[in-house]
Amino acid sequence: MAKERTGRFLSRCRKKEQQKGLAPFPTDMPYTHFHAEPRALSGQVTYGGDPFPLVLVCVSARATLTDAADWIRTQRDELGRRAHEHGAILFRGFPLASAADFDAFVAAFGYRNFPYDRSLSNAVRINRTERVFTANEAPPDAKIYLHHEMAQTPIYPSKLFFFCEQPAGRGGATPLCRSDVLLDRLSDKARGFVQCCETKGLKYTNTMPPQADHGSGMGRSWQSTWSADRREEAESRMRSLGYSWQWLPDGSLRATTPRLPAVRPLDSGRKSFFNQLIAASHGWKDSRNHPSKSITFGDGSPLPTRDLRLAGALADEMACDIQWQRGDVALVDNFVTMHGRQTFEGTRQVLASLVAADD
Ligand code: FE2
Repeated sequence: MAKERTGRFLSRCRKKEQQKGLAPFPTDMPYTHFHAEPRALSGQVTYGGDPFPLVLVCVSARATLTDAADWIRTQRDELGRRAHEHGAILFRGFPLASAADFDAFVAAFGYRNFPYDRSLSNAVRINRTERVFTANEAPPDAKIYLHHEMAQTPIYPSKLFFFCEQPAGRGGATPLCRSDVLLDRLSDKARGFVQCCETKGLKYTNTMPPQADHGSGMGRSWQSTWSADRREEAESRMRSLGYSWQWLPDGSLRATTPRLPAVRPLDSGRKSFFNQLIAASHGWKDSRNHPSKSITFGDGSPLPTRDLRLAGALADEMACDIQWQRGDVALVDNFVTMHGRQTFEGTRQVLASLVAADD
């Protein structure tokens, strides 16, 4: 029965590829003995005929990492296009086991690396290789709400890779949500709100501790965030990026971004809800921060609570949970798709790697 379902799924995929004039998957690579093909996934959804996420399964039992990397090098333009068109690709059953394998897998795409230490991410992360780091050191009971990576800063990646080194004992899925579809649905139900987001933009406020706070999903210190040892250095960087700020008596730094766009035009001609509105208004909560003070429209006016709830509920309703299996890799187009993290029990090791925005 499952075999029949997969057969029907494959023939639908091939028909769609022919209609679009796309190079078909699977692609035989006789000299690398490598073969991957699309598969259906529980919870997968379809938008405009495109499965979300696209799932590619390695079906070559003896394929090595070198074979997989060779295959990626010949397919990378197509894979990048597919990631943008579908929103995300899940690679399952590929021969990866370690952070070093993941680094080699990502390197095969030839994208420009966006290192964590140059980002303004508010998450605490630990580098495992130059381009690979832990996704977020926040504790297991902290849910990370749906967001576009670093859309609350002026510097963000165009794509993200995730790698499951070890799945959690329980929970720990990564929800993915197509942000262009979310924007359409939100516009249908709250057109005025979406118009305000589009015309006014958004501003985010985050209070950063003087030392890393490993108990928070947004516990990165101000020194690490701004690559600064002294306040003057941090202030100089903030000034150059249009931030405003306030030093608090306990040594923390409260920083407010310049006006940032809330909606982004895509290559496809569509638009996405490219921001951190849901995460900031639902999840930016720790001993220094509260969601009610984390985000406003770009002119400083408050966001209507009813619309914030609606955006969060619609995104949750649409999200597809990636239930990680050891060795899985996900390539997420950061301009098209939001991601988050469900709570979990046990040890979970999901690593990440970012691609610079111009690649
Ligand atoms: Fe993230």
